[in-house]
Amino acid sequence: MKKIGILHGKERSFPEAFVREVNSRGEKDIVAESVYIDKLSQGASTGYSVIIDRISQDVPFYRAYLKTAAIMGTAVINNPFWWSADEKFFNNSLAMKLGVPVPKTYLLPSYERPDDTSPESFSNMAMPLDWETIYKEIGFPAYMKPHAGGGWKSVYKVNDPQDLFNKHAETNQLVMMLQEEIIFDEYYRVYCIGGKYVKIMQYEPRNEPHLRYVVDTAPSSQAMLDTIHDYTLRLCKGLGYDFNTVEFAIRDGIPYAIDFCNPAPDADIHSVGKENFEWVVKAAADFAIEKAKAYVAGKDNLTWGGFVRDAIASHAAPKAKTTASKPKTPTAKPAAKATATAKEAVAKPAVKATKKTTK
Ligand SMILES: Nc1ncnc2c1ncn2[C@@H]1O[C@H](COP(=O)(O)OP(=O)(O)OP(=O)(O)O)[C@@H](O)[C@H]1O
Ligand SMILES: [Mg+2]
Repeated sequence: MKKIGILHGKERSFPEAFVREVNSRGEKDIVAESVYIDKLSQGASTGYSVIIDRISQDVPFYRAYLKTAAIMGTAVINNPFWWSADEKFFNNSLAMKLGVPVPKTYLLPSYERPDDTSPESFSNMAMPLDWETIYKEIGFPAYMKPHAGGGWKSVYKVNDPQDLFNKHAETNQLVMMLQEEIIFDEYYRVYCIGGKYVKIMQYEPRNEPHLRYVVDTAPSSQAMLDTIHDYTLRLCKGLGYDFNTVEFAIRDGIPYAIDFCNPAPDADIHSVGKENFEWVVKAAADFAIEKAKAYVAGKDNLTWGGFVRDAIASHAAPKAKTTASKPKTPTAKPAAKATATAKEAVAKPAVKATKKTTK
């Protein structure tokens, strides 16, 4: 019997519907349930062929549980190693390599120093930063948001350097990104499951949460939807997420990827609505069953993204016989457009924004 588990927090509508859906298919030797843990011993099998993870971002014990499950062969959706490794700023850089437009973005050091660090810990950093270049390139208003986060927590719209300074002071030890605002004509949120099941949803982030998936206007064109479909697959395959949502803001006909690191995306019937909910339950069940059927005991059954696979391939030892032949040079495309580097700017802050970080 192959068991599919779903690991979740307080959410109920999606996990319960998922379990019901898988079990209603009557697949021979496949059963789904809510994951049950009564102990965790190192190197021990969890008994699950597949686990859908909806909560380990908030519960470190679960992340460790899933890594152990994975090394013992469980196909964990999403790959817990990759999820532990990436963050939104890196993902934006990867998007540029994948040819997907993203808003111009800079990374800001945390307002407060991390625990147990001293001013000497920051001797590699220019103090103050080259704010003039940053402001010039990003412009105002701009968005400031955590480089690793979700749920709209600590997402700020900032209107000028002083406003940025004031709001940055509220962010404690969070590492924030400062991002160009994309003033959009349309906005989309896209589910992507298994790197192939794609559901493009019109989304209006300016509405109240329960009305964000309710949009009255039609999409601007089929060509736009096709581009969004293509960009979504590029991002999810590059990152290696089996279950993700990607958000796009459309400006002048160009979809900019705003947020594409949502490995436990909202799937609650009350926010996404009945039609989207039914789609995501069905697609998740289809994919989990596929993974259960493909499961090979004791093997690595995780999904790894193009970034990791390319990195490993480029380090693969050449075979003895082929040493005479020329090694292949990587063919990674250069980033779409190089942005101005910090070196080019005059080191003069517009405001004393790094006062506290210069401690
Ligand atoms: N660069 C931007 N230009 C325009 N709007 C933006 C930008 N960045 C964020 N937003 C707005 O802020 C909202 C929240 O930002 P974002 O999605 O990046 O945060 P999040 O915490 O990851 O949210 P979620 O948990 O919904 O995925 C977006 O839905 C969008 O409406
Ligand atoms: Mg978002």
